[in-house]
Amino acid sequence: MLEQIEFTTKSIREKTKNFSPEVGIILGTGLGGLVKEITVEYVLSYESIPNFPVSTVEGHSGKLIFGNLGGKNVVAMQGRFHFYEGYTMHQVTFPVRVMKSLGVKTICVSNAAGGMNPDFEVGELMIINDHINLFPTNPLIGKNINELGPRFPDMSEAYNKKLVDLALSIAKEKNIKVSTGVYAGLSGPCFETPAEYRYLWRIGADVVGMSTVPEVIVARHAGLNVFGISIVTDLGVEGKVFNVTHEEVQAVANRQEPKMTLLMKELISRI
Ligand code: HPA
Repeated sequence: MLEQIEFTTKSIREKTKNFSPEVGIILGTGLGGLVKEITVEYVLSYESIPNFPVSTVEGHSGKLIFGNLGGKNVVAMQGRFHFYEGYTMHQVTFPVRVMKSLGVKTICVSNAAGGMNPDFEVGELMIINDHINLFPTNPLIGKNINELGPRFPDMSEAYNKKLVDLALSIAKEKNIKVSTGVYAGLSGPCFETPAEYRYLWRIGADVVGMSTVPEVIVARHAGLNVFGISIVTDLGVEGKVFNVTHEEVQAVANRQEPKMTLLMKELISRI
């Protein structure tokens, strides 16, 4: 894996004339609009990057974008890899390893999620302050590569508190309604049954989705600071569980995306 990371990093550095990003951004379903705010310097399609998997889901166009956002050099993944697509955990999280190797210090992640918290509404923005890993596996399983991080990484502050507080103060300043809460990550691809949503709420999760947790685990293993935000695209609240479609998830995410974009952009400028 080390050789793969090094080879991919070298290839990207050649193609981007040694562009050095400080912040890595991973954009979720229907949330690619932040890319329009980036003063783009280089765009690499995933197909053109050695060892990169290629993303297949509708609503995810696979590109790595290098440029400036809020005065910071950033690298943004437009389209991420999901475990339910059949990728291994190593493939899902490989881009995070590469971002770290390119010099990134902070990673900002967004996703669309279902909301179990009865106080939440469709369209709610939730800053993630913790997560529960309900994937059937963990990206760190296997021989630990000490150069990449410790065998038993600490997860007591997976989501950086200072970044959560900073985002909350920006939201207040910009009049953006946000909540904070816990993200449960599971494999999908089916949405949850009412009983599963009830279970997730009871175990302490506010929202649920099919991404983010693997990337965040690897980011923490690599010593990166993490900021995460969910957009609640549907409700998993007792009596309010209706038929969910991927199209609806995308439509709600698209509608709420400008607020998330503003928040992320401002946050990145102040990191
Ligand atoms: N469950 C899981 N993933 C999701 C959901 C959901 O309800 N909504 C958007 N992504």
